Amino acid sequence: MNKLSTLFVGIFITFVSAWLGLVVIPYIQLGGLKPEKDEITGALMPPALSGSAQRGRLVYAANGCVYCHSQQVRGSARRLPEGEVPPDIARGWGARRTFPRDYLGERPHFLGTMRTGPDLANVGLRYTADWQHRHLYAPAAISRGSTMPPFRYLYKKQRIVGAGTPDALDFSLIPGVEPPEEGYEIVPTEQARDLVAYLLALRRSSYDLPEAAE
Ligand code: HEC
Repeated sequence: MNKLSTLFVGIFITFVSAWLGLVVIPYIQLGGLKPEKDEITGALMPPALSGSAQRGRLVYAANGCVYCHSQQVRGSARRLPEGEVPPDIARGWGARRTFPRDYLGERPHFLGTMRTGPDLANVGLRYTADWQHRHLYAPAAISRGSTMPPFRYLYKKQRIVGAGTPDALDFSLIPGVEPPEEGYEIVPTEQARDLVAYLLALRRSSYDLPEAAE
């Protein structure tokens, strides 16, 4: 074999092994994953998102939440001594680590690489819808010293009609932020409602997967 063909064979093997390692083997390992069905209730795990939560995923994507938040609870690579808990679980970010099956059907997925803010894999288990709206409107007022930017353009001001809108922001719970003038209220737009529906649906610790038992 002359030197040129050795070079080409080398390049070919390099590309084929990368393709095998990055595409074929992961596909064989994960391509056939399906939601797990609860034998008693028939519920799917992970559960499908509601229509509003699915639209909320797009709002999450459009606003770059993934640049500061991950959605993956890590386990531990090493065997931990008796009684020691992996750091992500010790921080209260979830009761178990997350598995590939937790992300079925998510396109794109929001695993994330940055943790400027806390992990959100289970944030739906931690807060109510009203809290989420107040926090999106004024993060620093709700969480002192927060560097999260406010998302006020997801809210709108309108004249109060009758008893008012049930999910209008309660400014007595948002310290230091100017409420709208008398007769007006701040309400979430459809986008904010969808985003919060999505955040409330992030509860990966609330269902069990067989692989979590291992
Ligand atoms: C520039 C970085 C940044 C961006 C972008 C960002 N956040 Fe945050 N977020 C933070 C930080 C820092 C905190 C922690 C302080 C706090 O609670 O505000 C936080 C906290 C949170 C919390 C509370 C989590 C907890 O467990 O206490 C939620 C929920 C949240 N962010 C949702 C979002 C959503 C939804 C978006 C997109 C619309 C977003 N964040 C965009 C930085 C960011």
